[in-house]
Amino acid sequence: MEKSPIDASLPLAASQQAKQSRVRRSALGVLALIGTSYLLLSHGIFGTLRHRHLGHWHHRDHFKAGCVQPDPIFPSKNDDLDKLQDFIGSDTFRNATVARMSGAVQVKSVSFDDLGVIGEDPRWDVFYDFYAYLENTFPLIHEKLQVEKVNTHGLLYTWKGSDDSLKPTLLMAHQDTVPVPPETIGAWTYPPWSGAYDGKYVWGRGSSDCKNQLIGTLETIQLLLEAKFEPRRTILLSYGFDEECSGKQGAAKLSEHIHNRYGDDGIAVIVDEGSSSEESWGTLFFKPGTGEKGYTDVKITIRMPGGHSSIPSDHTSIGVLSELITHVEAEQYRIYLDDENPYYQQLQCGAAYSPEFPKKLKKLLSRRRSSKNTCKAKPDHLAIEAAKQGPEVKYLMQTSQAVDVISGGIKVNALPERATVTINHRINIGETSKVVHDRLTKLAGHIADKYNLTLHAFDGKEEPSSVILTETRDALEVAPVTPTDGSVDGPFKVLAGTTRALYGEEVVVSPGIMTGNTDTRYYWSLTRHIFRFGPGYAPGEGSWMGNIHTVDERVNVQSHINSVKWFVLFVRNMDEAEF
Ligand SMILES: *[C@@H]1O[C@H](CO)[C@@H](O)[C@H](O)[C@H]1NC(C)=O
Ligand SMILES: *[C@@H]1O[C@H](CO)[C@@H](O)[C@H](O)[C@H]1NC(C)=O
Repeated sequence: MEKSPIDASLPLAASQQAKQSRVRRSALGVLALIGTSYLLLSHGIFGTLRHRHLGHWHHRDHFKAGCVQPDPIFPSKNDDLDKLQDFIGSDTFRNATVARMSGAVQVKSVSFDDLGVIGEDPRWDVFYDFYAYLENTFPLIHEKLQVEKVNTHGLLYTWKGSDDSLKPTLLMAHQDTVPVPPETIGAWTYPPWSGAYDGKYVWGRGSSDCKNQLIGTLETIQLLLEAKFEPRRTILLSYGFDEECSGKQGAAKLSEHIHNRYGDDGIAVIVDEGSSSEESWGTLFFKPGTGEKGYTDVKITIRMPGGHSSIPSDHTSIGVLSELITHVEAEQYRIYLDDENPYYQQLQCGAAYSPEFPKKLKKLLSRRRSSKNTCKAKPDHLAIEAAKQGPEVKYLMQTSQAVDVISGGIKVNALPERATVTINHRINIGETSKVVHDRLTKLAGHIADKYNLTLHAFDGKEEPSSVILTETRDALEVAPVTPTDGSVDGPFKVLAGTTRALYGEEVVVSPGIMTGNTDTRYYWSLTRHIFRFGPGYAPGEGSWMGNIHTVDERVNVQSHINSVKWFVLFVRNMDEAEF
């Protein structure tokens, strides 16, 4: 990064910035007026002469209309609260936050795929320790806020606002981490539960997924309490404890509890862990996750007669299964960019604001009217061109399939009676699990016909000599897409305006898409406005998250500090919003 938009703006108190911004804005307003009249005049006077020139303007405007960047939003002046931003930038806070995050990492709150019942399986009990740690670390919160334990270890904090007509702001994170495989412990630079601090990063399992967000949101509330903030809008903190292994015990139960209290669409906005900033096409983007791909695991079993290997059939169940897998992999799902796909808006943002946005993509983008016109049989040229940027981009617009687990055969002198494969899929926006299941049913049907086997596709039955398709767990459909029109007064505008207030107007806030899933999968009914967002960023420090789920996980402390500044501003801005 050559330009560092944050350098100049961060040390300023929000109020000072607000003043500057107001001046800038009014100056811009005058310029804009002059500019508009110039355009009107020139168009009027020079008519067709100017036509070509204006054509270009229209393109840029067209893209900008698809990616409106709200002005920076600052809360109204309040000396005590404005001082917080300076304090968060101080050494005192830095030292304290390092200690808090390090302490959180040192509690081994691991969740495992095979956990038993809460209260019976002792591996859950570490969450008592984690809660004790939070109680000790944030005494004021535990004194002033309502704390509810949901399903033993789920934590819901409520800071009640004075105005019941305003829907709550809900901040989320999870208490659990993925395990550390014992054979990898030696490969860590610092031991995985040390919470070591090297002057720049706090290291350890969970440091960036996502105890940073959990501690950061609690720090935000603690600071606001200390500064005597009096919310109009209720603030909720919701922390699950099994996000890394489905969220069924934590998020699912917390969501039910919150739903009982506030009902459908009863929450104004949700911010959960998620994506962060990224430089694309020469521009610094913040990309809150506003969509999530769906998910389905399909298991296919071939059952065929056994017998002695000395008199085999031409094809055993393993051979037949292999043939089916070959057909599955011979063709991929189509590359397709739905109008609703957040990546579509991201492309418009790039075209509108990024100097290095590829010309060819821009051309295709300007020709495109609606994905509804790209009929299913025809290739989606825009998506196909965009996919050339690499597999990480391609799979934002394509259902993925990965043949991940296979088994079959028991003994080398016995014909295998069963062979089984499990295929993982992440479902593209605009498609459903049915698209995947239908395709596999068709391919399995051909194989069943060819080898005279009975097909049981998702019907819960099986018999000898058959091809059986089942889901190994319930499919998760594509998440509802969060509205992200920056010109409309709503949560996206507040989120983007807060981000640009903190990091400068040079940054672009664009919707992003998650290829994984967070605990928000259980929260869809509570609000349409879900953002999976880690708002931390520090110039020159690279991404704040390091090595999630693997050796040497760590979090950048300066980014974490800035994320706390962001949360404080965001909560205050939401508090002043009228929707
Ligand atoms: C922060 O910690 C460093 C290193 O331990 C120490 O040198 C410094 O004095 C501390 N600063 C404050 C303000 O506590
Ligand atoms: C196909 O299987 C059925 C019963 O499983 C059997 O009756 C029939 O003879 C088989 N047909 C062929 C062509 O093998």
